Amino acid sequence: MGVNDRNKNLFEGLWPLPNGVSYNSYLIDDESVTLIDTVEVDFFETYLRNIRAVIGDRNIDYLVINHMEPDHSGSLALIKKYYPDIVIVGNKKTFDMVDGFYGITGENYVVVEGSELNIGYHKLTFAMIPMVHWPETMVTIDTTEHVAFSGDAFGSFGALNGGVIDTQIRTDEFWREMERYYSNIVGKYGGPVQKALQKLKGFEIDAICPTHGPVWTVEIPRVMEMYDRLSKYDTEEGIVICYGTMYGNTERMAEAIARAASEAGIKNIVMYNVSKTHHSYIIADVFRYRGLIVGAPTYNAGLYAEMDELINEIANRDIKKRYLGWFGSFSWAGQAVKKIGEYNNTRLHFEPVGEPVEMRQSMKEDDYNRCEALGQAMAERLIADRNQ
Ligand code: FEO
Repeated sequence: MGVNDRNKNLFEGLWPLPNGVSYNSYLIDDESVTLIDTVEVDFFETYLRNIRAVIGDRNIDYLVINHMEPDHSGSLALIKKYYPDIVIVGNKKTFDMVDGFYGITGENYVVVEGSELNIGYHKLTFAMIPMVHWPETMVTIDTTEHVAFSGDAFGSFGALNGGVIDTQIRTDEFWREMERYYSNIVGKYGGPVQKALQKLKGFEIDAICPTHGPVWTVEIPRVMEMYDRLSKYDTEEGIVICYGTMYGNTERMAEAIARAASEAGIKNIVMYNVSKTHHSYIIADVFRYRGLIVGAPTYNAGLYAEMDELINEIANRDIKKRYLGWFGSFSWAGQAVKKIGEYNNTRLHFEPVGEPVEMRQSMKEDDYNRCEALGQAMAERLIADRNQ
C-alpha cells in the first residue's frame, strides 16, 4: 500500500536522498482486514487510494503498528478518522506513543512477545525487537505464509520504481543505500540488532517486508548477512581517509598518507573531503573498513568544524574495533591534532596507529616523511590482521 517520496532532500532533516525513499505499508486481505504500519502523512491521499483499490468500501479491522516513528505512524490519525472502528495493535510502549504523538486513546489490542492474532486464514504473532532503533519496535510475523513485517529493520533508502519485490527489480543500487541507512540510523544499536537476529532465527521466513525499500525474498540470506556483519561491527581490510582542508595544505598530507598506504599493499582506500561529501556516506564506509585516518586544520584555536562534527557523529554510533591514525595542520598555534587525540581518548576509543602528524603552514620534506610513515603504519597494522 506504500508510497514513494522523490521530493524530500533530507530524510529526518539529516540524510540526503539521491534516489528518494519509500514508506511501505502492507495490507492483508483476510476475514479481518489488517493494515500493517502507515505512511508519512503528506502522502495520505495516495495511500488511501492504494488501500481502496484493494478493499473498496470495506472496513479495515486492525492496524498493526510495528514502529511509531512518524514516517510510518504519520497517517494513523487520518486512518482512524476514515476507519473509526479500526483496532490498533501494538505493545505497551507503542500505546504510550500513540497517545503522545496523536492524542489517540480508546480501543486497542495490546500484544506482548509471542501474542497471537488470528485474522482468518493468516495467523499473526509478534516479536519485540526494542531499540531497533526505537524502544517500541517489534516485528509482526505471518506464521501462515512465513512473512516478517520488520519495520525499519532491513530497510533501505531508495524509492521503489514500479517493482516492489526483489525478484521484480534491479537491486544493485539498494545495497550501498541499505548500508548507509543502517549505519546512520540503526548503527548505534548493534547489540539490540544482534538480539533481534537471534530471535528471528526461530521463525521460518520466506519474505521480509520492511518499511523502506524492497521486499526481500530470494535475497534474504544476503540481507541477513549484512545485518549480522554490520551489527557486530565486523570490517573489511581498508582505510577511510577523511580530511578538512581550506587551501589544500592539509589535503596534501592526506594524499601522501594514501600513497604510502597504497604502496604498502592496501587496495581499499577511500578518501573524502569532509566539507564536500555528506557525512552519512563517510560513516557508511567507516562501518565497512577497519582503518580510519582523519585530519584537519586548526580553526579558531580548535578543530575545524566539519571534522569536529564528523568525529562526533562517529562517536555517537559507538563503533567498535577500528584503528585510528590522525594528522592536522596549523598556521601559528596548533590545536587540531591535540583535539583529535583527546576525542579518541574520551569518545572513540579506537586503537591508535602510527604517530600523529602535525604540520605547520605547508608541507616540507619532513612532513612528507611523517605522513608516509603514518600511511605505512596503518597499512602494516591492517596487513598484520590478514592471517588471523
Ligand atoms: Fe522509518 Fe524509524 O522510521
